[in-house]
Amino acid sequence: MDRRSFLSTLSAASLASITAAATLSEKADALEHAMAATLDRTVAKPFACIVDGHSDEGTPPFLMGNDPRLPQMPEKPSLIDFFKYRFAPADHLLQSARLALENGYDEKVVIACLVHDISVYGLMRTDHGYWCAQMIKPYVAEEVSWAIEKHQALRFFPDDSVDYAYPEAYIRFFGEEYKPEPYIEQSYREARKHKWYMTSRLITVNDLYSFEDGVEVDVDEFTDIVGRNFRQPSEGLGFDGSPTAHMWRTMIWPNNFL
Ligand SMILES: [Fe+2]
Ligand SMILES: [Fe+2]
Repeated sequence: MDRRSFLSTLSAASLASITAAATLSEKADALEHAMAATLDRTVAKPFACIVDGHSDEGTPPFLMGNDPRLPQMPEKPSLIDFFKYRFAPADHLLQSARLALENGYDEKVVIACLVHDISVYGLMRTDHGYWCAQMIKPYVAEEVSWAIEKHQALRFFPDDSVDYAYPEAYIRFFGEEYKPEPYIEQSYREARKHKWYMTSRLITVNDLYSFEDGVEVDVDEFTDIVGRNFRQPSEGLGFDGSPTAHMWRTMIWPNNFL
């Protein structure tokens, strides 16, 4: 991070305390304190609570209900509404699903590709395969949520039968020496023996080649496939009392005080 963008992350109070410090040592202490506070704010904050690259700094205190910085969602939101108002532009998801469609895969693979990373867009990046699977489990075939959970592990392991290689990007991101955690290896081993292995594997196959600049895909193209493969609750996602309704509500109102 350069100096200007770092300073822009500091609160006015932090900047004032650094400026007001009399000695170099006091300035260093004030700077360290400000850096720690900034890290607390940006690292420990769930993704859903970060708007336009900033955490909830500036949010009215004790906010309840619609965050004025976010588009207001319909009263009974559908999966498509979440794409439009919370995940957009979500090019990676839309391009993955379009590729699966063009490659002629079954609709269950297309819907799996469409939602395989949604938690990264609206709720949680860490362990995203598990979060995504859990979020959608009440609304899709068991095979689809299973495949989405397992894609997190499968991405790290090649499969020559479908020309899937370890992603080169991962070598750049994590280094040559990176080895997935034992729980990821365990998840891979379980998936490899499972009857639905190939459904999950096909998510990774379509995932890998789906980052294309300038390829615009409209989520409305998937309305029919979503209609046939995602049980949209009539009360709206978040309000149907399902075991994961709270996750969808969290994305609707990510900054509620309580
Ligand atoms: Fe993923
Ligand atoms: Fe992905």
